[in-house]
Amino acid sequence: MAVLVTGGAGYIGSHMVWELVDRGEQVVVVDRLSTGFDWAVAEAATLVVGDISDQALVEETIRQHEVDAIIHFAGSIIVPESVSDPLGYYLNNTVKSRDLIESAIRCGVKHFIFSSTAAVYGSPDSFPVDEGARLQPESPYGTSKMMTEMMLRDCAAAHDFAYTALRYFNVCGADPQMRTGQSTRGATHLIKVACEAATGKRPHMEVFGTDYDTPDGTCVRDYVHVSDLVNAHYLALRRMRAGGGSLVANCGYGRGYSVLEVIDAVKRVAGTEFEVRTGGRRPGDAVAIVAGAERCRRELSWQPRYDDLDQIVAHALGWEEQLKRRNRQ
Ligand code: UFG
Repeated sequence: MAVLVTGGAGYIGSHMVWELVDRGEQVVVVDRLSTGFDWAVAEAATLVVGDISDQALVEETIRQHEVDAIIHFAGSIIVPESVSDPLGYYLNNTVKSRDLIESAIRCGVKHFIFSSTAAVYGSPDSFPVDEGARLQPESPYGTSKMMTEMMLRDCAAAHDFAYTALRYFNVCGADPQMRTGQSTRGATHLIKVACEAATGKRPHMEVFGTDYDTPDGTCVRDYVHVSDLVNAHYLALRRMRAGGGSLVANCGYGRGYSVLEVIDAVKRVAGTEFEVRTGGRRPGDAVAIVAGAERCRRELSWQPRYDDLDQIVAHALGWEEQLKRRNRQ
């Protein structure tokens, strides 16, 4: 029996692979290596290089490895990119997810965990935002993920099939054991960008918008450590295997930091200064988004271990140093 992780060579996926391996699970990864790296999972899992919409490949993999659960990370994740390339996002995140879900159902895979996003809420009317809030995504990225959630809901009603959709807030940090981390080239995520500036990989960074209606004028986000996030997936897997049924839950800590607070934390933890420029607003950005985190804790008995901004930043910086040493970036 094995767990199939799509996108398992990528940032979050590779952390998931290690979490599963640490728990004694067999893991098979399907990844086309468009942004992921084979070395990120080579030691831990069987890697099948291919696309999740290649149904022959996926179904053969499911049968060969006796897959009982799929954890689906593969997809495109950059909000502003989705604004300029909506059809690319609907293809990668919605159409291909449909193909994968169909393969799962055809092969009798009963448990499916989906990497969803807080972007399904858009700019919530209030925060913390809980799962019952109106879905009003403001970017094709958010819409593409919302549509996949809807397909899963309908398939769970029609078939012997349960799913968990975890709506991620801002995922960051790296494996505390430094076995993997965020290695994406040209990453756009705030903590990664700031850590690259702190380690001299980029000469400066930019703050996108300082005129928002927030205490310091910059956007507020709920930054969640990737190791806590993947642990929630493992707990969701256990819950479904025990007959727990379908679940949609936020995955964040329930508190927010502004862009400037994050940059200060990176400077503080790194003990270094770097140039920060002020720029205009970035298309598709919501003002403030913080998780209502009760359901995840209650339903999954999730107990985060790394809910501390300085610790998150320390792990992210540690990984940047590793990449530098390994000459991988
Ligand atoms: N930011 C900067 N400068 C940078 C990078 C980011 O000021 O160089 C700002 C952004 O404008 C935003 C905040 O930092 O206000 C966070 O931006 P990220 O790019 O790190 O993350 P997003 O909030 O845009 O998106 C992330 C994930 C999505 C997810 C979303 C949910 O990338 O997958 O969180 O809130 F949907």
